[in-house]
Amino acid sequence: GKDGYRHYMEKELHEHPLVIGQTLQRMVDPASRRVMLPEMPFDLASVPRAVITACGSAFYAGMIGRYWLEDIARLPVDIDVASEMRYRNPPLTAGSLGLLISQSGETADTLAALRSLREKAVHILSVLNVEHSTMARESDVVLGTVAGPEISVASTKAFTAQLTVLACLTIATARARGTLDALGEEELVSALLDLPSRAAEVFTQGAAVRRMAQIVAEARDVLYLGRGSMFPVAMEGALKLKEITYIHAEAYAAGEMKHGPISLIDRTVPIVASAPYTPLFDKTLSNLQEAKARGGRLLVFTDTKGAERVSAIAEDMVVLPHVHDFVAPILQTIPVQMLAYEVAVLKGTDVDQPRNLAKSVTVE
Ligand code: F6R
Repeated sequence: GKDGYRHYMEKELHEHPLVIGQTLQRMVDPASRRVMLPEMPFDLASVPRAVITACGSAFYAGMIGRYWLEDIARLPVDIDVASEMRYRNPPLTAGSLGLLISQSGETADTLAALRSLREKAVHILSVLNVEHSTMARESDVVLGTVAGPEISVASTKAFTAQLTVLACLTIATARARGTLDALGEEELVSALLDLPSRAAEVFTQGAAVRRMAQIVAEARDVLYLGRGSMFPVAMEGALKLKEITYIHAEAYAAGEMKHGPISLIDRTVPIVASAPYTPLFDKTLSNLQEAKARGGRLLVFTDTKGAERVSAIAEDMVVLPHVHDFVAPILQTIPVQMLAYEVAVLKGTDVDQPRNLAKSVTVE
């Protein structure tokens, strides 16, 4: 049941700290504090490149995975949504890594992409929540997200569990490729192990999220902005809003806004930005200034280190604990999903069963 929550989505949002912790328990050895992945039938050190493919939220998780694998493991990565990857026929060396991400393990587009990658003799590694699924049977290795069953059609906890697995995979790949030493691994693992308690603190910000929701609920269009690994977080926020509130939302890389969508901005188009204090904070803030100068109303998700400067320009903000840059996209996902949920509650839509959507999309 819903355990006293109003909807499954609300219950599942509150499970973020738990599922991040459970997923880490499966992947991090408590004694050595090192990432321990299951035995793989291939060597991560000799993979020449990775191709990531998935649909919807799982695709956004993959985009964050790409930032990590490129930056930390120095692994060349290609990524596309499964329905496009399937027909792209990318040139791939045998022995490359096909990285598939899916909550259900049954999504027809992702399964078709898996099969077309397999024909190219790449190793198939799938990040799946349902471990006895069709994709699981057709993969060389499965890394399980320990999110438990997700009932709400809009994905929430599966997404942060996917990110947790991708973070661990990045650490293991970086170690294998010699781009991360023991000290570096210790730093990243500590940041991950710290996450469940930081994630639990996010829920103390409920009142601030509900204030933002009042503004968003009145809008017809909403623009979501983020840079670097916060760009896919913005995309996740925009998708969730569209899915369950039927408000049109679009995510843009914050720096790309001035190349077009800035013409949309006025008081009626709220701007939701994800701007924690990372090396991209200053750049993001100057993009937000540009939007504000055109009359945009800024609703900003930041952290304790960014709060003072954000408060100088934002109409409202949500302040999260400051965490290591590496795990910031995982933490920042939680309040953007909460925002969509609170807007849906205000609008009175069918949160768990939005119109036209099914939990698992088994047609191409
Ligand atoms: C988003 C959502 C969808 C799914 C997508 C992939 O809230 O629910 O975008 O993320 O259909 O589904 P899976 O992960 O089962 O392959």
